[in-house]
Amino acid sequence: MTIQFSTKIFPQADVNNPKQIKASLATLLAQSSDCLVLAYSKADLDALAATKSKSGILVELDRLLGGSVAHANLVGDLDGQPASNCVIRAEKSWAASGVKVKRVLLVCLGDIAPASARSLSAYSKIARAALKQLSGGSIQNALWFIPSFALGHRADFIAEEVRLTIQYAGDQAYRFGVRQPAMKFKAKDKADTFTHLIFAGNDACAKELKVAVPEGVAMVEGMHLAKDLGNLPPNICTPTYLGKAAQGLSKKTGLKVEVLGRKQIEALGMGSFLSVAKGSDTPPQFIVMRHEGGKAGEAPIVFVGKGITFDTGGISLKPGEAMDEMKYDMCGAASVIGTMYAAALMKLKKNVIGVIPTCENMPSGQATRPGDIVKSMSGQTIEVLNTDAEGRLILCDALTYVERFKPKVVIDVATLTGACIIALGHVHSGVFSDDEGLVNSLTKAGHASLDTVWRLPLDAAYHEQLKSNFADVANIGGRPAGSVTAACFLSRFTEKYKWAHLDIAGTAWKSGAAKGSTGRPVPLLVNYLLEQK
Ligand code: BES
Ligand code: MN
Ligand code: ZN
Repeated sequence: MTIQFSTKIFPQADVNNPKQIKASLATLLAQSSDCLVLAYSKADLDALAATKSKSGILVELDRLLGGSVAHANLVGDLDGQPASNCVIRAEKSWAASGVKVKRVLLVCLGDIAPASARSLSAYSKIARAALKQLSGGSIQNALWFIPSFALGHRADFIAEEVRLTIQYAGDQAYRFGVRQPAMKFKAKDKADTFTHLIFAGNDACAKELKVAVPEGVAMVEGMHLAKDLGNLPPNICTPTYLGKAAQGLSKKTGLKVEVLGRKQIEALGMGSFLSVAKGSDTPPQFIVMRHEGGKAGEAPIVFVGKGITFDTGGISLKPGEAMDEMKYDMCGAASVIGTMYAAALMKLKKNVIGVIPTCENMPSGQATRPGDIVKSMSGQTIEVLNTDAEGRLILCDALTYVERFKPKVVIDVATLTGACIIALGHVHSGVFSDDEGLVNSLTKAGHASLDTVWRLPLDAAYHEQLKSNFADVANIGGRPAGSVTAACFLSRFTEKYKWAHLDIAGTAWKSGAAKGSTGRPVPLLVNYLLEQK
């Protein structure tokens, strides 16, 4: 890991209790840390400026730091706006009063009067601003005093806030070239100097921290793995490479991994999946990963990830512009592998299975043609009218395959349609399901990780567009509602279980100057798993 996370408990430290503030702050300031991160409210700032009845975290801090806080305020460095922040550097005089921290980073919560109205997204802005200050300078470690952020908060928010802080800090610390030294083509890929975030808490939140920190760490590990796999070039990250990566995890964790090759895929009758692989010289693989953390016989949660390691479009060739980004067409697979890794690391007490059909979509003399009819594992025949609608062709056979697990629920994850980017942009992933409960849990998990989803329809009326004159179904439904007809196609293979489809075409990676995999929707899926407890 490029960044470490840990916990330190100061039993009595409580800045929400007026009688305790001074002793609490004195204890925290006496720690040897590069930076103590404290949150304050607008009311705390007002109290600092007031002439009478002075109390609150900034007033007490100012007394302990010999006037440094009032001075920062005097020169205009403190502000009452949410997420505004200011670093106060140690002065010689601090040492004399037993202060060991080298800096104090003050971050403003804004007006917390309506504490109940404070949301995770408000916290996220504050946390992100503070984390940005910690990065890229000379700070190596910091003490993040959670109870100061948790002002007026319910205890169950703390776990979400801690996981989110770890998610953001992990995101910020990620460097492709540092994690993959063989891929270090650019000098700018230098590890961040900030490498250790310590969550400081008190007795009241010790329990939450003990659980949430390792959960967040596992999630970041999964997210980083998903980013690595996504960012690797398509000449390295082949179907065989993905299989090996999954097998590598089984050595590290208790995950059971099975990788099927072309012969076994043929024997299973996956004619649709194989029709996509036909144009490529690199062999397809079918990966099955199991985390058996639940009771034997307990129905598993199954994830299915689209693993097209490069999508040229096949004979229905894509235009050349930005075609390199089609290396990201395996981000569904990467997020499933990352989520399975996280589930194993956090020793989740659930049975979870990850299934990945993976191949390349290439044009060649062997490639599937538009007009070809193929037979899926389900027995349904498919008229391939456009070889660029290949994701659904590999997923449909995987969706039939997973029937054997008698799943509690199946969620597939795919960079499936450009139309989903037109509909939702890069903000939400698309979610499609007939099951209200499942949509609600995914929506909730999205909010908890700020890795959000938006529901799109799946009505019977759209199925009309998939009619074929020659086969049971066509693989495209024309331009209108392209994401919906793609989901409708998949739904024909999911009748035996509860199912949702996530279209991550707009959220799995970023284009342009900041080009790179986002690791989404690992945070969403990990939070979904955690909610199933
Ligand atoms: N992998 C693409 C979808 C995609 C395109 C994701 C651009 C992200 C950015 C998928 O295989 C595809 O090519 N879909 C076609 C479907 C069409 C032929 C019905 C699309 O979206 O154009
Ligand atoms: Mn395609
Ligand atoms: Zn594709």
